[in-house]
Amino acid sequence: MPNKSKQDEIIICRCEEVTLGEIREWIEKGYDTFDELKRVLRVGMGPCQGRGCRDLVLREISRISGMKISEIPPGRFRPPSKPVKLGVLAKGGDDE
Ligand code: FES
Repeated sequence: MPNKSKQDEIIICRCEEVTLGEIREWIEKGYDTFDELKRVLRVGMGPCQGRGCRDLVLREISRISGMKISEIPPGRFRPPSKPVKLGVLAKGGDDE
């Protein structure tokens, strides 16, 4: 990547080890939604399901594209959106 800076080496998605430089490169290629970046870079597909990187990625899309963060689709959330211990699922709900 030409003009690669130290900033580009910053890890944005810690789960999938995706750097700011990689994210910027793909946004500049036209991948300007979270779901598109998820497909090509796997951001948001780690154990935290994007809780650690989603806001940072959306902020970078906003900065490069000029769109407001509120205008950018946040991407799809698939359940469980929060880690759940198997023991909790095995016990079932109170209504059973
Ligand atoms: S930090 Fe990106 S999926 Fe966890």
